[in-house]
Amino acid sequence: MVDEQTDVRPAEQRDVEPETGSGRTEIPRSEAFKRYIASGWADRPEQATTAGPLAVAAADRRARLSSRYTGTRLVVEAGAPKVRSNDTDYPYRAHSAFAWLTGWGDEAVAGSVLVFEPAGDGHDVTLHFQPAAGRDTDEFYADSSVGEFWVGRRPSLAEVGTSLGLPTAELAALERREGDLTLADEGLARDLAELRLVKDAAEIGEMRAAIAATRQGFEDVIAALPRIVEHERGERIIEGVFFTRARAEGSDLGYGTIAASGPHACILHWTRNDGPVAPGDLVLIDAGVELPSLYTADITRTLPVSGTFTPVQRRIYEAVLEAADAAFAIVKPGIRFRDLHAAAMDVIARRVSEWGLPLLPEAQLEGVERADRRYMVHGTSHHLGLDVHDCAQARRELYMDGVLEPGMVFTIEPGLYFQPDDLTVPEEFRGIGVRIEDDVLVTEDGVESLSAAIPRTPDDVEAWIERLRA
Ligand code: GLY
Ligand code: MN
Ligand code: MN
Repeated sequence: MVDEQTDVRPAEQRDVEPETGSGRTEIPRSEAFKRYIASGWADRPEQATTAGPLAVAAADRRARLSSRYTGTRLVVEAGAPKVRSNDTDYPYRAHSAFAWLTGWGDEAVAGSVLVFEPAGDGHDVTLHFQPAAGRDTDEFYADSSVGEFWVGRRPSLAEVGTSLGLPTAELAALERREGDLTLADEGLARDLAELRLVKDAAEIGEMRAAIAATRQGFEDVIAALPRIVEHERGERIIEGVFFTRARAEGSDLGYGTIAASGPHACILHWTRNDGPVAPGDLVLIDAGVELPSLYTADITRTLPVSGTFTPVQRRIYEAVLEAADAAFAIVKPGIRFRDLHAAAMDVIARRVSEWGLPLLPEAQLEGVERADRRYMVHGTSHHLGLDVHDCAQARRELYMDGVLEPGMVFTIEPGLYFQPDDLTVPEEFRGIGVRIEDDVLVTEDGVESLSAAIPRTPDDVEAWIERLRA
């Protein structure tokens, strides 16, 4: 379906059919039709809404941002839709900082803008967006990007104002001023990322729900293993099965699913997912459901396709599990974020050296790097929330070198990857990749694994597959 929006001719020429393109001429153009279609509609009642927990929490977040920017006008944009190709866009997804400051998730109207207008010591905050136009305009049937015949019912200023607890105004009334700070300003983007490092109760509730939906997605995949194995692109079936759950329970995926069977598991961001899933191999699945609130989980499980680990698979899996447990064991307020990685890598180093892998002497590696990192080149943890790699603009001293505080949510995800052509490892290790990824919450005195309900020991994983496989 295409519409006359792509008709770039002046309005007075548009009742003549254009000479290029197909289908654009399908939009009715005559004045008589415009009068006719504008009439005969029932009154449309406003939808009753109330501000939910995320919107209530967002008011407190805005107050915290406001107090850092007394006297400065802030303009926080949700962002424009992104073109996929020609006249087709990617599904719209608002900027995470905008979602955090409003509590408006997957229903956010594209192009919305939150304005902090200085007022006394604080700010008056107004949400600008383009509400539905009346039926006295031709927008509702002739504009495929915002018309309600094309995209469905759109909210009014009053409806959004009530559901978010915010004053609202037309996008057309938005003024830009010299000196406005926007998300393009490094300082503002950084401050917002740093404010988001500690999650509030509403956010933690969303994380729990995202992880519960993700667990269901993993269980769907296990139940589908017989048909996954049968299909020549079984990895794609995994991706599709998980996506079905993500759409059913949430809004989307938080990131492209990694469905990596056999040696593909050694490719850290394998998202082509076009390979087979062979009996006897391991399959590494890294996937997360993003909820309508835009909070996402980030979970990895490595499963034996046939239901049981071989001895060598189990040995490698247990080393990774031990590394994860070593990181879990030290989590509490006051430790440094970077210590998690050190704790996991100490285990990896110990196991790798026990297995007699001929590592290059550290002395030849010029200082800080370690030879065992050949088998795990990624980090052990990243913050998680509205973005899978949350708060990435935070300064090093608050992120990598930062100290853990209650309310922080992050992953613990060590792995071991033995490339199929790595001549430094015994042949039986080659082509095996294992990662175990959990999502954790720092509590007042330690840690809670938010993904504890998703089996992770080798015995529990085997029992899980046995129970669910159709
Ligand atoms: N799924 C990407 C990551 O684990 O960081
Ligand atoms: Mn991760
Ligand atoms: Mn992941």
